[in-house]
Amino acid sequence: MTAQIIDGKAFAERLRDKVGTVAADFAKRAGRKAGLAVVLVGADAASEVYVRSKGRATLVANMASFEHRLPADTAQGDLLALVERLNADPAVDGILVQLPLPQGLDEQTIISAISPDKDVDGFHVTNAGRLAVGQEGFVPCTPLGCMMLLTDRLGDLSSLNAVVIGRSNIVGKPMAQLLLDANATVTIAHSRTKDLADVVRRADIVVAAVGRPEMVRGDWIKPGATIIDVGINRLPPEEGAEKGRLVGDVAFTEASEHAGAITPVPGGVGPMTIAVLLRNTLVAAYRNEGIALPDGAL
Ligand code: GUN
Repeated sequence: MTAQIIDGKAFAERLRDKVGTVAADFAKRAGRKAGLAVVLVGADAASEVYVRSKGRATLVANMASFEHRLPADTAQGDLLALVERLNADPAVDGILVQLPLPQGLDEQTIISAISPDKDVDGFHVTNAGRLAVGQEGFVPCTPLGCMMLLTDRLGDLSSLNAVVIGRSNIVGKPMAQLLLDANATVTIAHSRTKDLADVVRRADIVVAAVGRPEMVRGDWIKPGATIIDVGINRLPPEEGAEKGRLVGDVAFTEASEHAGAITPVPGGVGPMTIAVLLRNTLVAAYRNEGIALPDGAL
C-alpha cells in the first residue's frame, strides 16, 4: 500500500483564505480589524522566523498585527506590565507570547497573566480546563489543526483507536482530549510506555509529537492507518551541505508503505498552526465584540 499524502499546506491555505474573507466581514461590522499581538522576548533565531511569518500572515488575512519585541534581559515585571496593557487594549483580540522565554522569566506566570479570552494559543489553565470539561474556550493551535486534518480525511472518528505519542501540555494532552471528544478510543503513550511498537500497531490513528527524529518505524503501522506527524526535527548536515534535512517523528518512507494516509514533514501539520492561530484570533474578535460569528464560517 502507498499512503495518500495529507496536504496540510494546501488545507492551511484554504483555511487562511476563509479566515481572510470572514475577517473582512468582521472589520465591516465592528468598524475595526481583528487584532493579534505577538510578544517576542530576546532574539532566538527560530522564534524570529515564526514571529515574522505570523505577522505577515495576520496582515494578509485582513487583520491587524501588533508586534512587541523586548530585550532578552527584560524583567518579569515589565513583561507582565506589557501583558496587562494588551489585556486592556480593545484593539487587541488575541495575545501570543512566543515561547520559549529567555531564562529568568517564568512561562507559567506570564501565560497565567494573559486574559483567557485573549489567550488564542489556548495555553492558559482556564482554557485547558474548559477543554477538559467540554466548555467553549481556546484550543491550542497545533492539536486543533491536526484534528481538522483528521476529520477532513476520516469524517466520523467514533470507534477508531487513536494513539497519541507525547504528553505535552501544548500538543499531546489537548490532542488526546480532542480525540476523546470525537468519540475515538484514546491511548496516550510517552517515553516510559512499554512495547510502544505494539501499542502503535493497534492504532487506526497515530499522532506523533515527541520530537525524536523518525522514531516511529514503518512496521509499527497498522495497514491503512492515518498518521499525523507533528515532529519537526533537523538532522545533522550531510557532507558538503550547510543544513541537515527536516524530518518528522515518523520514518516517512517506511510508514508510507503501510499507512492509508500520512502528513509529510515539512508541509503537513506545520502550516496548520499559523492558520489555526488566525482562526482563533478571529473567533476571539467576534466574541470580544459580542457579534455572532456567521454560521459555519470557520
Ligand atoms: N513557540 C513555538 N510555537 C509556538 C506557539 O504555537 N505558540 C507560542 N506561544 N510559542 C511558540
